[in-house]
Amino acid sequence: MAVLVTGGAGYIGSHACVELLLSGRDVVVLDNFSNSSPVALKRIKDLTGKSFRVYNVDLLDKAGLEHVFSENDIEAVLHFAGLKAVGESVSVPLKYYRNNVIGTVYLCEVMQQYGVKRMVFSSSATVYGVAENVPITEDSRLTAINPYGRTKLMIEELLHDIYQADDEWRIAVLRYFNPVGAHSSGKIGEDPKGTPNNLMPYIAQVAAGKRPQLSVFGANYPTKDGTGIRDYIHVVDLALAHLKALEYIQAHAGIEAFNIGTGVGYSVLEMINAFEQASGKTIPYIVSERRNGDVALCYANPDKARSRLKWQAKRDIHAMCEDTWRWQSNNPNGYQSVSDSRQAPIEKESPLVKTAAFLL
Ligand code: WQD
Repeated sequence: MAVLVTGGAGYIGSHACVELLLSGRDVVVLDNFSNSSPVALKRIKDLTGKSFRVYNVDLLDKAGLEHVFSENDIEAVLHFAGLKAVGESVSVPLKYYRNNVIGTVYLCEVMQQYGVKRMVFSSSATVYGVAENVPITEDSRLTAINPYGRTKLMIEELLHDIYQADDEWRIAVLRYFNPVGAHSSGKIGEDPKGTPNNLMPYIAQVAAGKRPQLSVFGANYPTKDGTGIRDYIHVVDLALAHLKALEYIQAHAGIEAFNIGTGVGYSVLEMINAFEQASGKTIPYIVSERRNGDVALCYANPDKARSRLKWQAKRDIHAMCEDTWRWQSNNPNGYQSVSDSRQAPIEKESPLVKTAAFLL
């Protein structure tokens, strides 16, 4: 039996694959490599010494999905694959609804067809929109305020409807707060394309001298130092939450949502300071206008995950910054380093090859 990891070459998916393989589970990776690199898969094999199958398949390719399920004995799905840039979702909403929502419908249809009814879904704290109260609990009002967040909310709702229609489904919905950091080896990490949207990768590129300075989006929020406060969670802690969620759904019927955060909020200025401590670099910054859609405060109440999943975050802000810096300094151009690209295991896109498995 294997766990299918959609988006398994991506930032969070790759970290989840490492922990799954090290825990002794068999893994099958499905990825269309639209926002990820095959090199990450090679690094996963180097880190774990384990082999696994990789399918270069898009969620909208239903025949490709059927092929994956027909060739593998899948017991559960960790569903990471999806577009995730808030700003981009505002400018091209249809791309997000098509890829994230319709792609998930196809995935669930094929899962049902093959009798696979266990899923851990990668949701987001964005479904809470502008939270009325913090720390945020799972029963807080769900009011997504951008197309990306609305796709996550729609998927959560369609998963509820699937369970209502067929109570054999067992689903965990993990609402991530702010994933940051990298595996302590420095071999896998976040590899944003172009200009990073998010704070941590942007700070890391400033520290590496790839960008001259950071723009702090507003310093007049009603917070301790005027800058935005968020609940940053180490990506390895986040990956480990998925293993706990897999165990949970194997023992519990139904569908449940869990906040995956530390329960501690840090401001932008605190993150800058922590990164300077971790890297020994100065992070120059200017204060600019607030970014549309930003909220002052967003952090989790993680009690439900602690009590029901027996999970809690263990890595602190210093580990988040140290591990990010190690990844950034070891991989200044992310996975685009020449040495690995020659060994990229995934051949060029072609209809015949598209759904073939690559064993790594
Ligand atoms: C964090 C703080 C910014 C960049 C987003 C998505 C969310 C999730 C995580 C997918 C804020 C400030 C940022 C910069 C800055 N993604 N900032 N200068 O917006 O909390 O959440 O990423 O699930 O869905 O909304 O994260 O890292 O963009 O911002 O001052 O260059 O850093 O204002 O206070 P965010 P972020």
